[in-house]
Amino acid sequence: MRHLIDIRELSVEEIDELIATACDIIENPARYSEKCRGKKLATLFFEPSTRTRLSFEAAMYELGGNVIGFSEAQSSSAAKGESVADTARTISCYADIIAMRHPKEGAPYVASLASSIPVINAGDGGHNHPTQTLTDLLTIYREKGHLNDLTIGFCGDLKFGRTVHSLINAMSRYSGIKIVLISPEELKLPSYVKKDVLEKCGIPYVQTTDLEAAMPDLDILYMTRVQRERFFNEEDYLRLKDSYILDPKKLTNAKPDLRIMHPLPRVNEISTAVDSDPRACYFRQVLNGKYIRMALILKLLEEAAK
Ligand code: NCD
Repeated sequence: MRHLIDIRELSVEEIDELIATACDIIENPARYSEKCRGKKLATLFFEPSTRTRLSFEAAMYELGGNVIGFSEAQSSSAAKGESVADTARTISCYADIIAMRHPKEGAPYVASLASSIPVINAGDGGHNHPTQTLTDLLTIYREKGHLNDLTIGFCGDLKFGRTVHSLINAMSRYSGIKIVLISPEELKLPSYVKKDVLEKCGIPYVQTTDLEAAMPDLDILYMTRVQRERFFNEEDYLRLKDSYILDPKKLTNAKPDLRIMHPLPRVNEISTAVDSDPRACYFRQVLNGKYIRMALILKLLEEAAK
């Protein structure tokens, strides 16, 4: 059974195919509107979500399928102490594919071991978020026309930001990639990502605290929210939450074809005055999330049927 727990489980060729399918869906939606007729997606969300859960659900409906699920742990048997493995085994009796978000790193992986249907990791703690990464890759491809030869700045909470970890994992397999890591000292990229991914793949990177100094080199600026729910104490969060606030003034030295991305939700880190800048593509990114999830659901269901 093929699952998607970590973005590295997909080869670069498979990612290219998913992007091509998503682009075809965008061009020819009617061709796909019956592809999942009679199939059910289960969204098991043990943590809050707007975009990820609803884009999975919209994706399944646009493929002609149906959706069941829950959107908080409290309304599931997890509140009674049921294990993730038992929940997954149970849902395998009702649905054809699972999208699971969980606050504990590795929970979707544990679910996949017990499940007889494909499990998609929709975010596990501060670890990984492979479908946001597919969304980001489709966005970069549609905005820039290619995934190679890019200087990408990641700014904000690089320690707990699972979207950052997954996207760095994905980008490190393309050629001509340079990474600029912009964060406060306390929220630096974990050393396991630096060593096991960037250094292993020979990706040049620099670490800085200065967003404005880094700006002129960037092709992509990937802003992130400080992940309040992963902090051990509120004081640290309050001290760090406004470390970076992107506003039009800070973009003065940016490239004219820079693209500003953000997985959302935004709190304070991008001023709303930036939204009307044509280089801001975070709301286009949201829409791409639905199309790439349609492509992924199709792929995993096709493979499960083999
Ligand atoms: C991200 C997440 O859940 O990790 N959001 C998302 O899925 N689009 C980013 C975040 O919560 O900051």
